[in-house]
Amino acid sequence: MHHVTANGANIAALGFGTFELEPADAEAMVEHAIRAGYRHIDTAQMYNNEEAVGRGIRNAGVDRGDIFLTTKVWTDQFADGDLQASVRDSLERLGTDYLDLVLLHWPNPDISLKETMAALNAVQEEGLVRHIGISNFTAELIHEAASLSRVPLATNQVEYHPYLDQRPVLDALAEHGISLTAYCPLARGAVFKDPTLERIGKRYGKNAGQIGLRWLVQQDNVIAVPRSSKPAHVSSNLDIFDFSLTEEEMAEISKLHSDDGRMINPSFAPAWDTAA
Ligand SMILES: NC(=O)c1ccc[n+]([C@@H]2O[C@H](COP(=O)([O-])OP(=O)(O)OC[C@H]3O[C@@H](n4cnc5c(N)ncnc54)[C@H](OP(=O)(O)O)[C@@H]3O)[C@@H](O)[C@H]2O)c1
Repeated sequence: MHHVTANGANIAALGFGTFELEPADAEAMVEHAIRAGYRHIDTAQMYNNEEAVGRGIRNAGVDRGDIFLTTKVWTDQFADGDLQASVRDSLERLGTDYLDLVLLHWPNPDISLKETMAALNAVQEEGLVRHIGISNFTAELIHEAASLSRVPLATNQVEYHPYLDQRPVLDALAEHGISLTAYCPLARGAVFKDPTLERIGKRYGKNAGQIGLRWLVQQDNVIAVPRSSKPAHVSSNLDIFDFSLTEEEMAEISKLHSDDGRMINPSFAPAWDTAA
């Protein structure tokens, strides 16, 4: 497995996502993922599974220092003081004394980004958090967040898979040396039925999902965090580092996007960038 280095953060290109995993599944699957070789775990305050994720990490018996652990602050905790307290609560629930990465889960136009970025900088400067970042930020908001932060940002976690073109976001991130962490990297399971990905997969003895994940992590500065509740799937999703896609295959997969490819679009989402 390779790592993505972004503004001082060294992040395993494939991590394990835990959205919608009930606590029992989160605990068991995080332990399984680490035993299978994952070293990067993604959770969030909003997932209500931080305690279980923390137990899973400890049950796996790997040194805390070998794990890259991310959580995300929910948008109702963005005021100065609230954010710092909520990160302390996350540390308590996760049973650890630092986080590798803390993200703002979604933009919140009701609280000034200047105030929120100052609070996020404060938890990093206090040593509670090694790296900071954002999630669901558009190109314009990426520039704004980067300009308001004393500490360089490590990642912007956004939806990204073959059905969604994220070129404007990738271009904005590249200007600041920020990585992109792809959420819903399997398009919530849809990639497994894709004829193009299946056809390419046959050449390498891989399934369509493995081809979709490989397409992501083979791009510069892109990380992916697939999720599964099944041990065999968790292991299979990691098995993408023993082959490479050709430039032609990368380009063919890049053409699979469509205008309605976005899967996560809640009412509080920002006005998304549209690709040219
Ligand atoms: N920042 C944000 O706002 C945000 C939003 C959404 C997600 N995320 C993060 O991104 C992670 C991934 O996104 P996601 O969970 O929405 O979707 P995803 O990883 O794209 O897809 C998960 C789905 O794919 C299936 N799957 C996984 N591996 C499989 C395999 N090898 N074969 C067949 N099916 C497979 C899973 O079912 P099984 O359980 O049956 O395997 C599940 O239904 C989340 O867990 C979370 O950490 C972040």
